[in-house]
Amino acid sequence: MSKHKIILDTDPGIDDAMAIFFAFQHPDIDVLGLTTVYGNVPVAMAAQNALRLCDLAEQDIPVTQGVAMPWVGPESTYAHFVHGENGFGDIPVEAPKRELDPRPAAQFIVDMARQYPGEITLVAVGPLGNLATALHLEPNLPKLIKQVYIMGGAAFVKGNVTPLAEANIWNDAHAAAKVFAADWELTMFGLDVTYDIPFEPDFVNILAEANPTLGSFVRDSSQFYMDFYSQGKDQRVCYFHDVFPLAYLVKPSLFTFTQGHAKVGLGELDRGQTSLAPRGSTPSPIWLDAPLINVATGFDHMSLVELLIDTYAL
Ligand code: RIB
Ligand code: CA
Repeated sequence: MSKHKIILDTDPGIDDAMAIFFAFQHPDIDVLGLTTVYGNVPVAMAAQNALRLCDLAEQDIPVTQGVAMPWVGPESTYAHFVHGENGFGDIPVEAPKRELDPRPAAQFIVDMARQYPGEITLVAVGPLGNLATALHLEPNLPKLIKQVYIMGGAAFVKGNVTPLAEANIWNDAHAAAKVFAADWELTMFGLDVTYDIPFEPDFVNILAEANPTLGSFVRDSSQFYMDFYSQGKDQRVCYFHDVFPLAYLVKPSLFTFTQGHAKVGLGELDRGQTSLAPRGSTPSPIWLDAPLINVATGFDHMSLVELLIDTYAL
């Protein structure tokens, strides 16, 4: 079987780092490049952090810098309170050894899609401005891309930024609306699944044993992240949201889905809400006009943990 060619669009970020290393480690994944976006941190820091992760993993692949602002509205506030001032839980990090690819992220996506028509899976684990910009640059992009997997949204559960909205979608709701409306196969891994499995300190300790370089980075950087997620809880835990679409890419049998017509809220109260009308649930044209997407709604917990540890151990 040939490898899955992916472009990983990311805002590193601690769970982003965990997901990026998973992609680098897995033998069935060929990462063509990392494209970066503001989100957890400003975009310039996201891009430098992506380079740092490539240095650590000894991966000489293109890293590009993308959009710095939401499609509409003011500059974002960032999630330093979740990911630390440096995006990696404030553990010491070295300056990157390599330079960025000079192309804007969206141009890189378009160039790769033209070079490998029908072969690339876009995996987006941050706000969706780079994908929306790429659609703007190349309206034929949906025909050139194999499929789009995102970490983002909350279909049947509450949000994590507002009662209705998840961070990646809320951060650039207008861009997300364009990405959801495009004529490509979209699969969403939102809080419906990612909040269903708290990871405890034992898990990151095992990753560090399995892979002393990459696993130790995840263990050390995630201490700050666990402090955030453990507030008010008896157990220390955190959530590795961004690895879910990559786990599905290599082991689809892990997940179950609900297919439905999806809309992204753009109003004051519902900004970034991902509403889903399950297929066949309503005759209303308002819903039937909305594109069908696949939303992950269940997964095999034990097998996911095994897959993550086994992949870090390779
Ligand atoms: O809501 C979780 C998402 O927001 C993850 O992608 C995390 O990295 C942050 O970007
Ligand atoms: Ca992210």
